[in-house]
Amino acid sequence: MNTLEWTVSPKDRDPGIFSGGMRYLVDGRIHEWKGAFFEVKSPIFQPSGAVLEKRSLGHCALLDHDVAMSALQAAVRAYDKGRGAWPTSPVAMRIRCMGDFLDRMEKKRLDVARLIMWEVAKPWADSLKEFDRTVAYGRDTIVALKELDRTASRFVMDSGFLAQVRRSPHGVALCMGPYNYPLNEGYTTLLPALIMGNTVVAKLPRLGMLCNMPLLEAFAESFPPGVINIITGEGGEVVTPIIESGQVDLLAFIGSAGVANILKHKHPRPNRLRSVLGLGAKNPGIVLADADMELAVRECVQGALTFNGQRCTALKIIFVDRKIADEFVARMAKAVSALPCGMPFTDGVSLTPLPEEHIVERMQRYVEEAVAKGARVMNPGGGDTDRTWFHPAVLYPVNSQMKIWHEEQFGPIVAIAPFDEVVEVLDYVAASPYGQQASVFGHDPKVVGRLVDALVNQVSRVNLNCQCQRGPDTFPFGGRKDSAEGTLSVGDALKVFSTRTLAAAKQTSENTEVIQGIIRGRHSEFLNTDYLF
Ligand code: G3H
Repeated sequence: MNTLEWTVSPKDRDPGIFSGGMRYLVDGRIHEWKGAFFEVKSPIFQPSGAVLEKRSLGHCALLDHDVAMSALQAAVRAYDKGRGAWPTSPVAMRIRCMGDFLDRMEKKRLDVARLIMWEVAKPWADSLKEFDRTVAYGRDTIVALKELDRTASRFVMDSGFLAQVRRSPHGVALCMGPYNYPLNEGYTTLLPALIMGNTVVAKLPRLGMLCNMPLLEAFAESFPPGVINIITGEGGEVVTPIIESGQVDLLAFIGSAGVANILKHKHPRPNRLRSVLGLGAKNPGIVLADADMELAVRECVQGALTFNGQRCTALKIIFVDRKIADEFVARMAKAVSALPCGMPFTDGVSLTPLPEEHIVERMQRYVEEAVAKGARVMNPGGGDTDRTWFHPAVLYPVNSQMKIWHEEQFGPIVAIAPFDEVVEVLDYVAASPYGQQASVFGHDPKVVGRLVDALVNQVSRVNLNCQCQRGPDTFPFGGRKDSAEGTLSVGDALKVFSTRTLAAAKQTSENTEVIQGIIRGRHSEFLNTDYLF
C-alpha cells in the first residue's frame, strides 16, 4: 500500500506543456517577456523511455528590475495619490469589476486546477477544492462588502458633530502568496485589497507561478489599467526594488517570518507601511487521557498530514498524556500506514511527492537527528525516500533536545511527545515563538474549559476535538507572536485592507446645508447615503 509508484497520468488530467508562462500583466496589458526564464519542472516523475524524468510544464519569466518598477509605477499611477478613478470609484463599480472577474475566472477552473496539481503535487480533488474555495471567497467578499457599505451609509451624530465614517483604501499594495496554496492564499489578500480600492502589484510564488497564468486575461478584462499588475521573478530582482522605493503602502505577505522581516526592513518609511502577514506556526495537538481515541487519531492524522503536512495550520507536534501514549502512538502509526500514497492525479490518494528534493533532504535531517537523540520511527517505511517522495514518519518520543521539537517542519513528519502534567504543554506553547492555533482532545468540561482559557491567551484559535484549520473562511484567521500580523477572513480582510476614515462637521445649519447639497447633488462618493443591498 505504501510503496510509491510513479504511474502515468490520465490524459484529461495532464496539462501538457503550458505555453503562457512567459507573460506578465502591467498597466492593463499582457506582455510577452523575451528575457531570462526558467523551466518549470513538476515534482512528479514520469516514465520517459526506460527512465523516470520530472515532467516539464513550460517556462516562466524571470522579470527584471525595470519591469518590476514599471508594474509599481502602473499601480502608483492608478492610485494617483488617492485621486485615481479606482480609489474614488463607487463601491458598486468595484463590486461589478470583481463579479466580472470571478465569472471569467470560473471558466478556467480545470486549466488552473491541473497546473496546481502538477506544479506542487497537490491531489486532484484538493486542487479543484483550492480553486472553488477561492472563487467562493471572492463571492463572499462581495456580500460582506455590501453589508459593510450598508452600515457605513448612515451619518452619526455625537457631541454636536455630524460625521460619516467609512473605510478608505491604504494605497498601493504588494501581495505575495506561498507555494502550498499557490492560488488561494495570494487571492485571499489581493481580492480584498482590490475591492477596497487599493491598487496592487502581485508577485507570484516561485513554485506555483504557472497555475496563475490562465487568469491574466480575466484580470486584464475585468479591472481598469494599472489597478492589478502581476509579475514573476526572483525576489531580489523584482521585490527588493519595489519595497525599497518606499511607494508601497501595504505589504500582504504569506510565507516565512524571516522573509517578512527582511522586506519590512527594506522599506525606507516604516511608519507608512501597513502589513498583513501570515507566517509560520508550530500548532500543537494536546491529547488528554479521556480523549475519544479513535476521533483523536483520525483528526491528528488529517491535521498532521493533509497535503503532506504543508499547511501553516498543520498539527506540527502532538502532546499525548503518558497514560495513553503507547496506544495512541501505535494507532497513529497504523493509521498513517493505511493512507494511500501515490500520484496526485490518482483519485483517493492522500500522500504525494514533495515539491522539491531539498524539502525531502530537510525531512531526512529532522528524522536522523531525532533518532540519534532517542526518538524512534514508529511506522514501517517511515522516512524512506525516492526522488521527491518522502514517506511520512511518525516520530516518538520527541523532546526538547531535538530540532523537530522547536522548528516548523512544514512536511510529512508526525512528531509525538508524552506529557505527565498538562502545564508542561502550556509552558511549551508559552515559550514557543509561534502562536497560531492549538487542538485539544478530551472530554472533561472542567479540564478542557481551563485549557481553553489558558490557550486563548497564547494562540488565535483553539480547536476542540478537531484538527487545526483556517476554514470556514468567515472565521477569523490570525496568529500571535511570530505567526501573523492582522486577521484574515472574508469580513476581517476588508478591514485590514482599508482604514477607517471620516468626514466630520460641527452640526450647524450652514454645515447641514453643505452636506445635504453634496448628497442631493451626488457630488461625493464618500459622503452619500446610498447603499447596496
Ligand atoms: O497554509 C495555511 C493555510 O491557510 C491553511 O488553510 O487550514 O484550510 O488548510 P487550511
